Amino acid sequence: MPETTFGVIGGGMMGEALITRLLSEGVFAPGAVLVSDPQAARRDFLRQTYGVQVTADNQAVVNGAETVLLAIKPQMLAAVAGRLTPPEGEQVPLLLSILAGVNLARLEQAFPGWAVVRAMPNTPATVGAGVTALTASEGVSEEQRQRARTIFASVGTVVEVPEVQMDAVTALSGSGPGYLALVVEALADGGVAVGLPRAIALELAIATVRGTGELLHQGDLHPAVLKDRVTSPGGTTIAGIAALEAGGLRSTLMAAVRSAYERSKELGQS
Ligand SMILES: NC(=O)c1ccc[n+]([C@@H]2O[C@H](COP(=O)([O-])OP(=O)(O)OC[C@H]3O[C@@H](n4cnc5c(N)ncnc54)[C@H](OP(=O)(O)O)[C@@H]3O)[C@@H](O)[C@H]2O)c1
Repeated sequence: MPETTFGVIGGGMMGEALITRLLSEGVFAPGAVLVSDPQAARRDFLRQTYGVQVTADNQAVVNGAETVLLAIKPQMLAAVAGRLTPPEGEQVPLLLSILAGVNLARLEQAFPGWAVVRAMPNTPATVGAGVTALTASEGVSEEQRQRARTIFASVGTVVEVPEVQMDAVTALSGSGPGYLALVVEALADGGVAVGLPRAIALELAIATVRGTGELLHQGDLHPAVLKDRVTSPGGTTIAGIAALEAGGLRSTLMAAVRSAYERSKELGQS
């Protein structure tokens, strides 16, 4: 078996999203990736689709790897970590955890002797358009931190935050795709209400949200500047914005982030 550089424990949706992008961007060669998953059908799929090595044995992943991505469900943490013995060798391995709500202290306890980075990607990572917030434990070297950034950069933008801000990240970018899915659906409903066929309305809504995000990003524009540019005196857009303000769109979105933040803190304590 060739030497593993990158190990993945849990070849589910997020594990696969990272694997596919890391391979397509040439960060790792398929032969340097070892993925563990309990389902034989899933392992076969990953091996055949991506040419990666697969195993049902999490210890095999840990033994050789420089970096291990932990991509199981949070409730599996104790069961998975409890069965692992620390990796052999001089090198301190790097654990990248994407487990929602599992803090660095719990990860360090579950993986003693590891350098640990906690990451919070979001669902658009599955199409390479995610944003991931990272927070590193004290034992993480500069080179390991950079390695973590490179790995998550394969599925989108990367930001580093102090761990205390992780609940806020969860509430904004983690839950944000859910909020925006509602916005897109509502825009499409509005289009249908004024006479557009459903499919066209949905296509217009998706393209508008996507394009506006791209314009703000590529143009490095403040949203207020874009809003001022598209509102002509007495025009259609300002009429629509007046209706949004009357309906409390801004305060509703702010309240959504706050509610998600409180819920994330609650879940982290349970
Ligand atoms: N999806 C997102 O947008 C998102 C965003 C941020 C963070 N996350 C985090 O990412 C993690 C994975 O989420 P996901 O959506 O990728 O879930 P998922 O699709 O269910 O992937 C988890 C994978 O781990 C496998 N697994 C279960 N027990 C295992 C074990 N003992 N050893 C090795 N693998 C095992 C599962 O197999 P079975 O199906 O057979 O159980 C499954 O293939 C979660 O902790 C979640 O909090 C996800």
